[in-house]
Amino acid sequence: MMEKPHSCFIDGFTLTFLLLNLALGRVAGADTYSRNDFPVDFVFGSGTSAYQVEGAANEDGRSRSIWDTFAHDGYAHGENGDVACDEYHKYKEDVRLMVETGLEGYRFSISWSRLIPNGRGPVNPKGLQYYNNLINELTRNGIQPHVTLHNFDLPQVLEDEYGGWVSRDIIRDFTYYADVCFREFGDRVLYWTTVNEPNVFALGGYDHGSSPPQRCSPPFCVIKSTRGNSTYESYLAVHHILLAHSAAARLYRRKYKNKQQGFVGISVYSFGVFPQTNTEKDRVATQRVRDFLVGWIMEPLQYGDYPISMKINAGERIPSFTNRESEQVKGSIDFIGVIHYTNLNITDDSDALKNPLRDFDADMAAKMCKYFFKLKDSEFSKRLKLVIYGYRGN
Ligand SMILES: *[C@@H]1O[C@H](CO)[C@@H](O)[C@H](O)[C@H]1NC(C)=O
Ligand SMILES: *[C@@H]1O[C@H](CO)[C@@H](O)[C@H](O)[C@H]1NC(C)=O
Repeated sequence: MMEKPHSCFIDGFTLTFLLLNLALGRVAGADTYSRNDFPVDFVFGSGTSAYQVEGAANEDGRSRSIWDTFAHDGYAHGENGDVACDEYHKYKEDVRLMVETGLEGYRFSISWSRLIPNGRGPVNPKGLQYYNNLINELTRNGIQPHVTLHNFDLPQVLEDEYGGWVSRDIIRDFTYYADVCFREFGDRVLYWTTVNEPNVFALGGYDHGSSPPQRCSPPFCVIKSTRGNSTYESYLAVHHILLAHSAAARLYRRKYKNKQQGFVGISVYSFGVFPQTNTEKDRVATQRVRDFLVGWIMEPLQYGDYPISMKINAGERIPSFTNRESEQVKGSIDFIGVIHYTNLNITDDSDALKNPLRDFDADMAAKMCKYFFKLKDSEFSKRLKLVIYGYRGN
């Protein structure tokens, strides 16, 4: 494992850690709130991802996802999701625990490779049965199902066939998969997140190589890889994610919205970011970090194009939308999922732009906070502070 040249916090290793260890973080400065402080229709819930909880990885026709491969290659601290929380067998018990906890919503993801083991084509009846069972158990107990279609776990077969998210072919296959989900579950599921955290998925998977599908190129790799190119693939993957998202959202609006009355959105990983010093340089760098981390996903959805700072710094390495694509992506969300845990301080690093060989981090030209960096694995989860007021005054 090597250290990355430009970033102090957003290296893929740490990001992967955030994802794996969030549940263990502690809430800093927890004020006391009660149910009465929230609107009556505010939904309290909890969330999981398929690979983290389902288990039954090799049962009933499920095929491997890129997370299975990554874990079995030994990159998940020697762990894997073969058994996990065994939700596949224990969903009734899990839902009972949710009822006892008082949850009103449960956000979970569907394992694409369980539902459609070849990535496209025939639906696996046992996979279908499982998700029907889970959804029915939730609704029977008054818990709203919120479903995510892709949570870092592309079917390995599509990765092998055409490189997964770096190919435009993914748009067709993702839309087909979304269609199956809307058709089979949309009578009971109203909230659909197409892709979870495309920004983190792309940086870990295609720039740092620290999460599946583990693609990257030197000197940007956190874990060595023989496939990929860190200078542009994270931009390419997000581009295809946005196009696939908008195709699925469009399909929902055309084919299902009238009847099912549901909502399609996407979720974005975010930090609250603040200038380290009150200088013009750090203030501009802080805005640039917002553009790169959040505007990357949100500006195309809101305005139909990437932030100007990204287009300038990444040049031709960031793909362009055609006019038609831009129109399609714009407005293709009914809601936005914000995933937020903590704050970062930002320092300008414009010198990074002098290097002709750049990845996302170098294009962003900023350094991010120091205080989590270089903690040992075991210390990280203990020390990660959840700062719940991260957007206050931001
Ligand atoms: C990655 O792509 C860049 C162009 O952005 C090219 O200069 C570089 O040689 C490529 N690196 C690898 C390892 O293929
Ligand atoms: C973060 O920046 C703020 C000013 O914006 C400063 O007061 C604080 O000490 C900084 N925190 C760290 C850990 O450097």
